[in-house]
Amino acid sequence: MQRILSGIKPSGDLNIGGYGGALSQFVKYQHEYESFFFVPDLHAVTVYQDPAELHQRSREIAAYYIAAGIDPQKSAIFLQSQVSAHAQMGWLMETQVHFGELNRMTQFKEKAEGKEGVSSALFTYPALMAADILLYQATHVPVGDDQKQHLEMTRDLAERFNSRYGQTFTLPEPITPEIGSRIMSLDDPSRKMSKSNPNLNSYILLQDSPEIIRKKLSRAVTDSEGMVRYDWEHKPAVSNLIEIYAVFTDESTDVIEQRYAGQGYGMFKQELADVVIAKLEPMQQRFREIVGSSELDIILRQGAEKAAAAANNTLRKASEAMGFVMFE
Ligand code: AMP
Ligand code: TRP
Repeated sequence: MQRILSGIKPSGDLNIGGYGGALSQFVKYQHEYESFFFVPDLHAVTVYQDPAELHQRSREIAAYYIAAGIDPQKSAIFLQSQVSAHAQMGWLMETQVHFGELNRMTQFKEKAEGKEGVSSALFTYPALMAADILLYQATHVPVGDDQKQHLEMTRDLAERFNSRYGQTFTLPEPITPEIGSRIMSLDDPSRKMSKSNPNLNSYILLQDSPEIIRKKLSRAVTDSEGMVRYDWEHKPAVSNLIEIYAVFTDESTDVIEQRYAGQGYGMFKQELADVVIAKLEPMQQRFREIVGSSELDIILRQGAEKAAAAANNTLRKASEAMGFVMFE
């Protein structure tokens, strides 16, 4: 069976972009692949995290995995810091990656720009991400658009390692959904929806109340044509809203376009709010039940055990291949 591994960093509140590009995809793929879903807490601390917040957010991401419908019986759900092989393999990957390769990563440039005291871990982060993926011999990695460059680098490192030390790692393929891999800001369809946008109305958080969701969507920018038509080139703002609709209903953009043919934006926005709320409300309820529960602790412990078994196996293989002395 083919394997997937993916994770969402516990460094901010999840918005519906992360839901479309990552979480909703995880839920679908768990039926087709042997799955590992982790909380990359070691990645989060590449920029300073308040300890209490990191603690809480790590639990929250794990709770969202479950609330969104990932079945812990089927998939391993775990915290990265609980499986020490990640840090160890991360080091091995740092010995393989070139400084110049890391220097070309656009996400680093964006995150480091204009900041002082940028940690070296933020720079080497893609080596740890490669380790995350290669440890599980993942064949596929579901990620949003912004992670594709890191995945290409992971493939390069796997190839480099395999050719230096012998066949060790599976080369992973990205899987990016056609719809939802790039949800844009509600106030500006040329910007990715992100919590770093100072305009609070530009994004919808998974924890937003129905009233807030309605308010934000009613304020979303559109255009002056007045037709619900999917056309990114000429109508990016409306196309983005259609795409959000598609993510939350699993309908095709064609079907949605036809349903609202000849109607203005008012009705469309109201019904868009309905479909978003219909998905998020039950998810929020399940989230609240689980986030502070001992059920979550048990799931995370069991997930870490299952993950460690797979990860330690690969770590051993890679360590032997590099020539480290290994005892039984
Ligand atoms: P982040 O919250 O930035 O760590 O992102 C978590 C996951 O969601 C990653 O796989 C991202 O690629 C994806 N993601 C983040 N923002 C968006 C967005 N606006 N549209 C689609 N996917 C996104
Ligand atoms: N870098 C990813 C992000 O910023 C999170 C991540 C870390 C990840 N390791 C991963 C995603 C491995 C997929 C696979 O969103």
